[in-house]
This record gives sequence, structure tokens and C-alpha cells, in this order.
Amino acid sequence: MTMRLVSAELVDSREILPDQWLQSFHAPELASGARAGQFVHVRTGDLSGLVLRRPFSFNTADPVTGMITIHFRTVGRGTEWFTRLRPGDRIDVLGPLGRPFEVDPRSRHLLLVAGGLGIAGVRMLADEALRDGRQVVLLFGAASAREVYPSSLLPDEVEYVVATDDGSLGHRGYVTDLVPQYEAWADQAFACGPHPMLAALSRVVAGRRERMGVATLGRKRGGGRSDAFGSTAARRKAFLQVSMEQNMGCAVGACLGCVVMGTNGQPQRVCREGPVFGVDEVAWEGTWSQVLAEAAT
Ligand code: FES
Repeated sequence: MTMRLVSAELVDSREILPDQWLQSFHAPELASGARAGQFVHVRTGDLSGLVLRRPFSFNTADPVTGMITIHFRTVGRGTEWFTRLRPGDRIDVLGPLGRPFEVDPRSRHLLLVAGGLGIAGVRMLADEALRDGRQVVLLFGAASAREVYPSSLLPDEVEYVVATDDGSLGHRGYVTDLVPQYEAWADQAFACGPHPMLAALSRVVAGRRERMGVATLGRKRGGGRSDAFGSTAARRKAFLQVSMEQNMGCAVGACLGCVVMGTNGQPQRVCREGPVFGVDEVAWEGTWSQVLAEAAT
């Protein structure tokens, strides 16, 4: 589906967790073509005349009702503007943007891993997977029970496993601690969360091929031929795909405000080449600014 600019009408707005909001918009043009992992760029106009744009993952998109939802934390003026919207208000929404998660057609068991607000990046994949007859385990991590995403907002069929840093709900510790228990069950894994969580996850799944063999999905076929870096085919074969949470400027590939370093030595724009990447595409060690600094010496 090609990107378009639509006028979306707010239907429902509620604070589901402290400072975290879930808003539903009627936007049938977007709801029918969006895929999990993609995002929208929304234009806000506040009374000061300041124009701000904000990227939001599609949290859900329902082609039948024409509704899309976004889930965000209020972190400043732009996001607070959204919380003052009332049902019937309209906003300009550009989307769908970015590249989606790619599920191998042979995958039956999907492991979703979310840290905090990262749930917004993988939530829609649960719907898509269940619709396609797959089983879904969602591992979710937060600082404490009061920040745990409500299970009532998830489809009943999802097996939901929680970790909290302080042990106030579920496993005490990081969500990544839970991954080894599910690694053998999972055909593929999909994650969204803070950069350190994704970097830790990349280490947890490293060596999976050696531990498990490569036969679980018949991936021996075509052995020896590798797909091009960042191609849809290569991502579809990746055990782990990650959706990067990155500050964005333009969201359409022009400003380079969103880059991460690729393992091919090239900067990768989260808004264009991402926000979803195969885990092997991202250079987890070192930040882009460090890379720039090293390149300059
Ligand atoms: S946000 Fe401008 S290039 Fe990605």
C-alpha cells in the first residue's frame, strides 16, 4: 500500500497506564492496508502555532471497522496535545510508513518480546498472527506492576508472560531472562523495546543456529545462497526481527535524524530501512555517534 495523507477522526481516548494513552481513530484508508511494524506520522497543531509531527506505531488496525489505534506516553508538548483531543476531532495522519515485520509462511509459533511502551510496536503482530492461525506467546517487561500492559487489551488466545524489575508482578528481572524458556518452541521472534533490551536480546539468541540446528523450518533449502542485506526475503528468514524505537524528524528518509549503524557498514534509516530490522542487520555494539567519531579520526 502506498503512503497517503488522511484525515482521521478521534473516536476514543483513554489513559490505560500512568501517562500512557490509547487512542482510536477512524481511518479506513489506513486500517485496510497497514501491516504490523509499520507506523504513522501525525501532525499536531497547538495553539502556539507550533507544528509538530510525531511517529506512532500502528498498535492495532482493523480493516472491518476502519479503526486504527495508537499507544503513546506523554513526554512533552506534542504528545500532551493529543491527550486534549476530544471525540470528533480530526488530525492529519501520514502513513503507512516504514517496513513491516516479515513472518515466514512456515512459522507456527511466534514469540513476541516487548519492553514497556515497546508493546505498541508488536501488539498488532499478535492480531495478524492469530488471524493466520499461528500461536503467540508475548513476553512483556516493565519496571513494576503499575506499568504492566493490561491483559484485557490483548486477544484471549495470546499467552501473556510478564516480568517486572522489582518482582511486583510475574518474573522478577528482565524480560530477556524469559526468552531461553521459549526459544526452542518459537519458530520466529519479534521484539520492540529500548535499545539496551534489544541489544541484550541479540546476545541471547546469538548461536541459536548451533544450539538448535537449522532444520526446524526446513531452512536447509536454498542453503548457500544468501539473500541481499536487508531484503524482505532475508528478513523473513531471520529468527529475530526487531522494531527500533528511535527519535525521528522527517519520518520519510530525508533528514538522517533516525539512523542506526548497519552491519554492512552503512547507516540505516529507522524510518525507511526500518523500523523493523533483522537482528543481524544492526551493529549493536557502539552507537552511531561513536561510529561517526571513530570515522572522523
Ligand atoms: S526521520 Fe528523517 S531520515 Fe528518518
